[in-house]
Amino acid sequence: MPSKLLNFYGRFAPSFTAVGFVARGLPLRPIGRAFEGQTWLVTGATGGIGRSIALGAARRGASVYAVGRNPEALAALEGVAGVKPLKFDLDRVADNLSLAEHVAASVGGLDVLVNNVGRLEHAYSTSPDGFESTYAINLLGHFALTERLIELGALGSGRIINMASGGLYNSALSLRRLEQSPARYSGVMAYAAHKRAQLALSDRWSAQGAPAYTMHPGWVATEGVRTALPDLNRHLGPILRTGAQGADTALWLAARRPAPVPGALWFDRAARSAHAYEHSRTPEVEPEAIFAKLAADVAKAAKG
Ligand SMILES: NC(=O)c1ccc[n+]([C@@H]2O[C@H](COP(=O)([O-])OP(=O)(O)OC[C@H]3O[C@@H](n4cnc5c(N)ncnc54)[C@H](OP(=O)(O)O)[C@@H]3O)[C@@H](O)[C@H]2O)c1
Repeated sequence: MPSKLLNFYGRFAPSFTAVGFVARGLPLRPIGRAFEGQTWLVTGATGGIGRSIALGAARRGASVYAVGRNPEALAALEGVAGVKPLKFDLDRVADNLSLAEHVAASVGGLDVLVNNVGRLEHAYSTSPDGFESTYAINLLGHFALTERLIELGALGSGRIINMASGGLYNSALSLRRLEQSPARYSGVMAYAAHKRAQLALSDRWSAQGAPAYTMHPGWVATEGVRTALPDLNRHLGPILRTGAQGADTALWLAARRPAPVPGALWFDRAARSAHAYEHSRTPEVEPEAIFAKLAADVAKAAKG
């Protein structure tokens, strides 16, 4: 394993694994049955952290739209009390827009939107709309879905939770890293830039009156980690967090509804610094440049 990666894992393992979750006493602080009468929308809810969030919210009384693209995984959610599985391929801008329209037409207003879906890939590929795949799923889709829900007035007094990652420590706010060329593709840096940009989106939506949080779930034993980060999985497998532990801060944010803190990364029920290294503190661009690209790409995809 390259030494940079080893340093990263070594530095954050005590905090980001189940060790940190237990050391902070979180297993002894139950969230309670907080969500009766609420409607939630959780993306990427057929597996991993998203599934744990959906099930955790439903168990606490919410009615949850659980969005995924995999028919078998969606079928496994059929009949689970409080869960309504919905099939949309969130790699596609059109599906994100249709999802927003479907939900807006079906419910008065969402109480919680969890933009959870996301991936890290090491090989360059393109989405059905022709964008770099991880840009499409980690950022563009979140933007398309959320902006459309806001336009349709479907977020009401709801809260938005954007699932980021400690991986954002590796990049400043950057436009050039959002969509890299195939020749110079670094999936890790793309992922870092997407997750960093989520902070800017949370601040934008909060300023527009739709309170939004950006969170880190810790390092969680999921299919996504097994596939994208086999070294992390191999070395830290036994102490990775469970899905429920990874879902904990999302459920806590939805239950407590703290005032959003601009630029903060919420982790283990607290607003924390989004910077672990000096280099990420100086943005390469203004947030408006990111928003302009996202809006232009949504428009481009909508035109076909
Ligand atoms: N696990 C961690 O340690 C960790 C750490 C930091 C941040 N995160 C973040 O947490 C989020 C969830 O991660 P995870 O580890 O739980 O991922 P995961 O195990 O890969 O689960 C993601 C879920 O999203 C679904 N999905 C993927 N692409 C989709 C699409 N185009 N349309 C609809 N559904 C789709 C997947 O199902 P199919 O692919 O089968 O369709 C799967 O059910 C991500 O944003 C990730 O970046 C995770």
